[in-house]
Amino acid sequence: MNTESVLEKKVKRIESLLDISKIIDREANSAKDIRKYFRVNHLAYKMFHSDMGFMHFRVTKGDKISSEDILYQPNVISSYIGKGATVVELGPGQGSNSFYLAKKHPDASFIGVDLNPPKLKKSDPKNVKFYKHDYSDLSFIESNSVDVVFGIETIVYCSDKTKVFREVARILKENGIFTVHDYALVHPLESYAPYEQTAMKLISKCGASALIESAEAWSSYLKEAGLTEVKTTDLHKETLPDLKQLEHKADHIMKKDLRVKLTFALLPYHFVNNILIGWLGYDACKEGLGYYNEWIYTKAKKEV
Ligand SMILES: C[S@@+](CC[C@H](N)C(=O)[O-])C[C@H]1O[C@@H](n2cnc3c(N)ncnc32)[C@H](O)[C@@H]1O
Repeated sequence: MNTESVLEKKVKRIESLLDISKIIDREANSAKDIRKYFRVNHLAYKMFHSDMGFMHFRVTKGDKISSEDILYQPNVISSYIGKGATVVELGPGQGSNSFYLAKKHPDASFIGVDLNPPKLKKSDPKNVKFYKHDYSDLSFIESNSVDVVFGIETIVYCSDKTKVFREVARILKENGIFTVHDYALVHPLESYAPYEQTAMKLISKCGASALIESAEAWSSYLKEAGLTEVKTTDLHKETLPDLKQLEHKADHIMKKDLRVKLTFALLPYHFVNNILIGWLGYDACKEGLGYYNEWIYTKAKKEV
């Protein structure tokens, strides 16, 4: 009886068609790599993911995927934004979350910090500013000055998460809120079967992110930085419909040997590798390797 999982079969297929050591052994997570990855894929995200410029996964609570599902994460953040609040977005990408929230909260001020920030247009809300900076260093933002910090599918790029979380804890006011939506492993990477480790390494390296870490490691980094848990929720099942859409698009290429070979030989590295993320991501998630966590933390008031 064949007990191979779909993920295992897919990893074997990739290994038979492509030299995956070239992807896995490559240093792919420097600031330069991250910038290049997002520059190359700017248009692809708009074409294949969201024409509104959102670069995160849809969270589908009902039976059918809907256009509103892309707003799940910013709507959660919106519920923590009070009148006149100062809000910092880590890794805003094309700026869509900050723009959406800035329109909903016209009396709040929004600051986005990204390695590749978007250029502001005349029609963009006036209460948004972007800084081109690595958010591991937020020294241009005063300590104890921010009400809400959030990061959607961006901290996964950092190999030193404690450094980022310490900066977040520094700039937050007491009782300020920090929300993160991101992927994490259920267990440490080294405890998985070899094909599962290969799949997770491919997914991380192909998207220029750091090697994906366990949820337990993430929560220990948050606590080390002095942040206190309010609530942690796993939403991986709710991201499956969106992951399935990407898997379906990738499958069109991955099912034909010649198509795979030509596509990977002819198109730019940072673009084609997305096909592997799309092809593996759905099954890795469905087979229970990862969480899509919503971490809500606070900077608790110091006891006197
Ligand atoms: C997948 S996109 C997510 C964009 C946005 N959060 C969204 O939900 O649409 C990740 C973004 O994080 C940014 N990023 C990654 N590491 C960063 C760092 N160390 N400092 C600043 N920005 C970073 C990337 O440039 C990219 O724009």
